[in-house]
Amino acid sequence: MMAFNNARSLSLQALADLMTQAFSNYVAGRLTFDVEAFAEWLWREDAHLNLSQIAYIDQKAVGLAMMARRGNVSRLAAMGVAPDMQNQGIGKALFRHILNQARTRGDRKVVVECFEQNESGMRLYRGADFHTVRRLYGYRCDHLLARQSPWIEEVESAEVARQVELHGLADLPWQATGNALLKYGPPCAGFRLEQACTLLSDPRQPIVTIHALVVEKQAQGSGQARALLAGLAAKFPGKIWHVRTICPEEIGAAVFEKIGFRREPLHQVQMHKVLSP
Ligand SMILES: CC(C)(COP(=O)(O)OP(=O)(O)OC[C@H]1O[C@@H](n2cnc3c(N)ncnc32)[C@H](O)[C@@H]1OP(=O)(O)O)[C@@H](O)C(=O)NCCC(=O)NCCS
Repeated sequence: MMAFNNARSLSLQALADLMTQAFSNYVAGRLTFDVEAFAEWLWREDAHLNLSQIAYIDQKAVGLAMMARRGNVSRLAAMGVAPDMQNQGIGKALFRHILNQARTRGDRKVVVECFEQNESGMRLYRGADFHTVRRLYGYRCDHLLARQSPWIEEVESAEVARQVELHGLADLPWQATGNALLKYGPPCAGFRLEQACTLLSDPRQPIVTIHALVVEKQAQGSGQARALLAGLAAKFPGKIWHVRTICPEEIGAAVFEKIGFRREPLHQVQMHKVLSP
């Protein structure tokens, strides 16, 4: 018999184990969580144990739906079913349950991202009438064109987050919003050149992730983002530059693809469903 309970019904260790189990055959590669990594993940993804739900079959935890919420928008931060229990309707039932809960608590929208190559995930969300907002790509560049720029200055990550809120796309994926960027502190570092700014993972490391890149609205389209990246390539030579698979396709095409970044093999689809009361 299937039953649901909130994620508080399991210990942190049991939740970490269930996540690890559910994502052991994940399309983007196996994910493993110990308690420490899982606690970090919960914080980073805004996942709320009171809203997140566990699916039980005969009192055994077999699936989880981890939920985040900002205002009246909820995000399915992770959804998984133990591999030996997949493809038996558990995911669909759990998903229907969390959508009903979101509607009941007055949410206006539920958002999710899913690798398009993840057939079961895509069938689940499409089957529940989720609509595509856009595709999200990841990028990598091993030889970024460098051009010295003495005017690059370091800025706080909170300033980059503020610029993203002011000048970024209105419907950015959850993890790329200013709110999400506020969680990045040192050794991540923010940089500005004129009206462009960016937030990088620790730039002393061999692989540097570009967590955010934004140009003030009035200066967009004038090459400032590319100039900033070229200046940073000169400041931090010999790096591999990386963008997580949450980059809106229109930003990727306008900036990264023009300066030699290559798309990673898997991409995500950003989706949402507007809930009727
Ligand atoms: C995605 C996942 C949560 C779905 O849960 P589930 O219990 O296996 O799914 P269900 O049995 O309820 O089926 C949901 C849909 O997926 C389809 N599906 C399930 N397993 C499938 C498979 N192996 N191949 C293709 N389609 C599959 C079902 O046919 C159904 O689609 P339909 O309604 O059009 O027939 C589960 O497969 C899983 O945990 N996968 C690994 C983690 C993951 O990818 N999470 C999603 C991240 S966005």
